[in-house]
Amino acid sequence: MENILTSQDGFIHTVTINRPSKLNALNRETISELSAALKAADEDASTRAIILTGSGEKAFVAGADISEFADFSVEEGKALSADGHKKLFTLIEEIGTPVIAAINGFALGGGLELAMSCHMRVASSNSKMGLPEVSLGVIPGYGGTQRLAQLVGKGRALEMITTAQMIKAEDAYRMGLVNHICEPEELMEKTKSLAHKISANSPTAIRAAIKAVNAQYKTGVDGFEAEIKAFGECFHSNDFKEGTTAFLEKRKAQFSGS
Ligand code: COA
Repeated sequence: MENILTSQDGFIHTVTINRPSKLNALNRETISELSAALKAADEDASTRAIILTGSGEKAFVAGADISEFADFSVEEGKALSADGHKKLFTLIEEIGTPVIAAINGFALGGGLELAMSCHMRVASSNSKMGLPEVSLGVIPGYGGTQRLAQLVGKGRALEMITTAQMIKAEDAYRMGLVNHICEPEELMEKTKSLAHKISANSPTAIRAAIKAVNAQYKTGVDGFEAEIKAFGECFHSNDFKEGTTAFLEKRKAQFSGS
């Protein structure tokens, strides 16, 4: 893996996009490497939360790598977008292990889209976010038109998309685009503390909860029906037995994730 770094700290797996000289811009290789690393982390039973961040102090990810698509045709443009959705952005959204974006600087275009495909976002107070694609003559193509509107509402999403302006972390927090903001030097600690809280809970139940929450945004899927089904399936798990037994025995549950 040339463009990413990975590390494990207890139940927490961190994936760092590592192209600081290009402000961690997402080229094809980085997308493939991220896809493989996230799949592997999700399949590893010792991982209960994943943190995604960028290397260096300047950027989380400054967008899709513009140099790769500057001369694309219509068909190539469609393929780039479809491939990215499938390989990375939808993959993250649907992954059963919670993924938290630790936004450590610019999160622009594909970078903000990447952060938005994560389940939660923590941002450093000096980070800046935006979808500048229309200033390049394109639109967000990695889910930005959908996920930004879901997170902040249609009016605010259209303002950010049509003006192509960056917003400050504080404004992103105020509009619900990020869950938390903190000082830059506290970013990893704050994000890890969130990941630790998640790690104490049942991985099987969390997987089911992510699926049920996502159901609301799937065309033709009834979210309430999806919840009923996922709720029922929890009763089958060892985690459910352990969680309820531990409560009745007045002890802390030790979940196996099965
Ligand atoms: N794609 C490819 N390369 C990128 C990039 C991107 N999205 N964003 C930054 N880079 C590269 C720059 O080309 C530069 O490379 P170089 O040193 O080989 O010339 C390097 O990263 C540093 O960027 P630079 O522009 O010099 O930094 P800056 O501090 O002056 O500006 C930004 C920072 C984020 C404002 C600016 O890089 C920028 O506007 N990036 C593009 C953002 C964008 O439009 N993203 C959406 C893409 S769809």
